[in-house]
Amino acid sequence: GFMDQLLGMHQIEMKLSEYFGNQRCIVVSGNSEQQPKVADAFGEALDESLNLLLPEGDNIIAVMGGTTMAIVAEQLTSLENSKRHNLFVPARGGIGEAITVQANSVSARMATKANGKHRALYVPEQLSLATYNSLLNEPSIQEVLNLISQANCVIHSIGRALHMAARRKMNEEELLMLKQANAVAESFGYFFNEKGEVVYKVPRIGIELKDLAKVPIILAVAGGKAKAKAIRAYMNNAPKQTWLITDEAAANEILKGV
Ligand code: G3H
Repeated sequence: GFMDQLLGMHQIEMKLSEYFGNQRCIVVSGNSEQQPKVADAFGEALDESLNLLLPEGDNIIAVMGGTTMAIVAEQLTSLENSKRHNLFVPARGGIGEAITVQANSVSARMATKANGKHRALYVPEQLSLATYNSLLNEPSIQEVLNLISQANCVIHSIGRALHMAARRKMNEEELLMLKQANAVAESFGYFFNEKGEVVYKVPRIGIELKDLAKVPIILAVAGGKAKAKAIRAYMNNAPKQTWLITDEAAANEILKGV
């Protein structure tokens, strides 16, 4: 019955957070690869989690891009009240991805749905070092980067390394390097091996992995059986305060043989 199912899911959630040693895992039933409703349920879980976790006062929420993030944005409901105000910022500049899944678009959409405010970061994601350095000196860009560095909440997804590299049109040399380094996961423009060690970082403007350690609220949203390896790799070494929102298909695959 329904209660058994609920109890079973709760057990999987406990097992998963014990396995990763992270603060909490939320497991939605089904497989988000095959059932679009499951990704909507990620959004509902994200909305509830944010409502629970965001403190009173002024929050700065840094948001990453990707198709998962774009879908979950649609499920947010107002997170504002008389005491709580939320500013959404993109966690990084964006290029190489379709506009609708760029961090700028996702954070703008989240701000709209959550009745919050939004600031955009108008810089390409992948830059030459010279351009990067001169852009960093632009006051309007510095202002938003400053807000990003003060974020008390980060929301992101986790992708498969080679899939993301191909989607972002990285060159042959980079693809080969990622294969040789056994990259399996990608998040924040970083690529990780199975142990969750960084094997490559795409030069871009935005949040740095080392900054993440001091962010009190972190929500990672990723599911589907095909992403199990990537989720395991990233979560193995993720900041322990990270809440993972995933699905049954990924969770079962990760816990197989544990
Ligand atoms: O960094 C991870 C990717 O943004 C995940 O993208 O949600 O389209 O799979 P996705």
